[in-house]
Amino acid sequence: MSVDLDARQRAMLAEIGVRVFAAPARAAATAQVVPAARPQPSAAPLRAAPPMPRDAPALPSRAGGIELMEWDALAQAVAACRACQLCAGRRNTVFGVGDPQADWLIVGEAPGEQEDLQGEPFVGQAGKLLDNMLKAMGLERHHKVYIANVLKCRPPGNRNPEPQEVAQCEPFLRRQVQLLQPRIILAMGRFAVQSLLGSSEPIGKLRGRGHEYMGVPVVVTYHPAYLLRNLADKAKAWADLCLAQELMRGQPPAEST
Ligand code: URA
Repeated sequence: MSVDLDARQRAMLAEIGVRVFAAPARAAATAQVVPAARPQPSAAPLRAAPPMPRDAPALPSRAGGIELMEWDALAQAVAACRACQLCAGRRNTVFGVGDPQADWLIVGEAPGEQEDLQGEPFVGQAGKLLDNMLKAMGLERHHKVYIANVLKCRPPGNRNPEPQEVAQCEPFLRRQVQLLQPRIILAMGRFAVQSLLGSSEPIGKLRGRGHEYMGVPVVVTYHPAYLLRNLADKAKAWADLCLAQELMRGQPPAEST
């Protein structure tokens, strides 16, 4: 796989632990990705909602009609939500952050301790890695990018989300997708993938090709927290980001690793 990179993006890739080598044919403009060898240190106006695809699964009819809410009402509904047990232990709900005109929607799992404290997704160590991954693509969290989680409340002790918690929160994410109309969704980690694609296949089996959620292309990749523990897979995550860029531009994906 080869991608065009400028000096700043190369520096960012080095930051996230992905080394790049110049490809011989287009040495000045392209780079090839190899696994990292070394651990890295530690409501604005919105576009109109798209029509629901005819084959979309029915939304659970929860009180308040989440499927009809506009952005501010949706944010308020999340803040007031008591649909599952997680509301008892939360300090803040974490609705999401970013550009309401985002091309990119990044979907993670659930708030951790720092996110629960600050009410913003991906602000801990995994968030720093995510920010660097975005920078490597010339993006940042408040510009053309929106970041949200499957769960809007922190599971105690950062345990895995329970199926009924995911089921209760899912209509919020679905409505966020409808209102944002991103051009691409990056599903990071098992729970994002399960929630968006309804698949329990391992990430390794689902990555490397395009999927779809409500008519939006979806690329599956590893969760940044996993990448912090599995440095060798950062190169695969970078390949996934390149695939997402290609799909977003409507280009046929290059062969992936
Ligand atoms: N992990 C996630 O999946 N989401 C966050 O917001 C933080 C960590």
